Amino acid sequence: MIDPSIGLPLPRVDGRAKVTGAAQYAAEFNQPNQVYAVVVNSTVGLGRIAAIDAAAATGMPGVVAILSHLNAPRLPYHEHRAFVDPAIGERLHVLQDDQVRFFGHPVAVVIAETLDQAEHAAAAMRISYAAETPVVRLDAPGAVMIVPDAARKPSGRTIADGVRGDPDAAFAQATHQIDATYDIAREHHNPMEPHATVALWDGDHLTLWSKSQFVVNEAIEIAAVFGVPAEQVLVICPFIGGAFGAALRTWSHVTLAALAARHVGRPVKLVLSRRQMFYAVGHRPRTVQRVALAAAPDGRLAAIIHEGTAETSRYEQYIDALTTASAFLYACPNVRTTYRLVPLDSSTPTFMRGPGEASGIVALECAMDELAVALAMDPIELRLRNEPTVNEQNGLPFSSRSMRACYALGAARFGWERRDPRPRSMHDGRLLIGWGMAAATYPSSRAPANARARILADGTAEVETAASDMGPGTYTSMTQVAADALELAPADVRIRIGRSDFPPTPPHGGSMTMASVGSAVQAACLAARALAGGTNYRDIIARRGGEPIVAAASSARGDEQRRFSMNAFGAVFAEVAVDPDLCTVRVRRAVGAYGAGRIINPRLARSQCTGGMVGGIGMALMEQTVVDTRDGRPVNASMADYLVPVNLDVGSLDALFVDEDDPYVNPLGAKGIGEIAIVGMAPAIANAVFHATGQRVRDFPIRIEALLST
Ligand code: MOS
Repeated sequence: MIDPSIGLPLPRVDGRAKVTGAAQYAAEFNQPNQVYAVVVNSTVGLGRIAAIDAAAATGMPGVVAILSHLNAPRLPYHEHRAFVDPAIGERLHVLQDDQVRFFGHPVAVVIAETLDQAEHAAAAMRISYAAETPVVRLDAPGAVMIVPDAARKPSGRTIADGVRGDPDAAFAQATHQIDATYDIAREHHNPMEPHATVALWDGDHLTLWSKSQFVVNEAIEIAAVFGVPAEQVLVICPFIGGAFGAALRTWSHVTLAALAARHVGRPVKLVLSRRQMFYAVGHRPRTVQRVALAAAPDGRLAAIIHEGTAETSRYEQYIDALTTASAFLYACPNVRTTYRLVPLDSSTPTFMRGPGEASGIVALECAMDELAVALAMDPIELRLRNEPTVNEQNGLPFSSRSMRACYALGAARFGWERRDPRPRSMHDGRLLIGWGMAAATYPSSRAPANARARILADGTAEVETAASDMGPGTYTSMTQVAADALELAPADVRIRIGRSDFPPTPPHGGSMTMASVGSAVQAACLAARALAGGTNYRDIIARRGGEPIVAAASSARGDEQRRFSMNAFGAVFAEVAVDPDLCTVRVRRAVGAYGAGRIINPRLARSQCTGGMVGGIGMALMEQTVVDTRDGRPVNASMADYLVPVNLDVGSLDALFVDEDDPYVNPLGAKGIGEIAIVGMAPAIANAVFHATGQRVRDFPIRIEALLST
């Protein structure tokens, strides 16, 4: 009998491969006779290409071909929409016309024998434009607010206009009111690994080694773009060096790599530069949010009004759940949420860790902190007095909700009872110390997934499923799920993922890989074990003449989504130290306590959550894509100028999990933690900054200048 491995803090099964360099990322694949493609990006923010002078570049050493709209073939671009694609609009078509829709729009591709030669020739391209003035900021003159078409239905995760009770009247009548506007900057994902694709055509079959969180869709998407059957496109992505949502969609550079490879009849490698990672591979949209809260003197909420506005592109309406949580995180009879978009001359935003909630809960939870101050009430106490018993938005019971336990566990670990509530009251030498907290939530969802298990003659097993692993430890956690279902030791299980020809899976995102793929892996392994009729696999297979036992299985949700509101919940606590003279802010420590169902691997879960908290430090204090108001150029498109937290910016982080047994969410009982890991951290820090300084900064990131200015 083998001990269960689910719940054990196993180290990563791929850890050795990663640290030794054996793990191959997209840009590290090479093919015989390979050439290199470099994208040329527009240097204006809107308009038309007037002329392309490729004469100098064409004659440079090593140049094999140059593609632009002047000579690129027209591509079919058949209709295809994955659920990671915006429901409204049409994806960017590249090299099909002379239009420039945003700064950095791909306008040409240079293909050469070496990367240096391709970069050199790309720099020699002379392109002139008939430029127009783009609208690049949601508060710019000419920016127009619209109702997102895909959010007009009063049901669904994103609702343009949601209301219950009479929030405006209740707000007007209440004794305590907060009415504040929060502005959160555009962010770029900035994973360590840039986007990269190696494209190889064999007749009309295409293989792509490509960074993707959704290999199944990448194959279908590129097949649709080129008008070939989907089964003729194979996408391979065994490892991802971070993505945070940036690789959920298949962006235009994948098309450019495939187009270049077909044009020159050789394999092509295309890697985006760090600068190019700021142009057209998605970003967290800037949001401006008004939150108005009203409460009775006892703290009970009388009204919640949350009006959120986010940027999108002119050609697609990207939407997320910006204001969704405000309708159910607290008990309140009068709630109004609105969600609007402002189309800009920019590329389309996309999901970025905790999409929607991460931004929306900044506004809600900072406003709750402001309300606690107005009521002279402890911020945890205020939240406890507004704990709902059901999801008041849809009337459904929660499948489980451990919010109270999260407050208690997090507060105890943090030492919250030692907090002096008065701003500027806590010090460490000359430093101002601030303690802040915030609640967090993210939905637990699940999508149909498939897996195949194979038990081999040596008694070991391998499991195949298309899912990616962008870093959370999917190889390892799936090994544990499979090992337990097969009653094998983890060392006797091999997980094979990251191929579009493996059993299909949903996107590796939305915190649903364990819920979806894990359930499928478990089902396939249970089916294989049932087929074997025992766990003496070597003997059983020997009696079968050595023939492996193979079982495939699907897993999909039942009706639980209609019966329950299913969400992870958490409470995040942060301590900052603010230098009173320089106004620098340091996050010295933070504790996150989460109710996320079953934790498959506590070591990985802790790592994933503290990683998300690092992202929250970035959101609160550092990350901001600065856009040149004249042309939309991302001004700080480098890792020197776009600030992300590095080791010295990150204090001591701790992630705790409350015991939570949720029999409804999925067969594994795992709610998913990838997104909630970032939610709550930024408002906890902002609230700590207020506590330290007495200054309420509502523009994110909170910069030194904002604290110096008063
Ligand atoms: Mo996550 S934003 O779904 O990669």
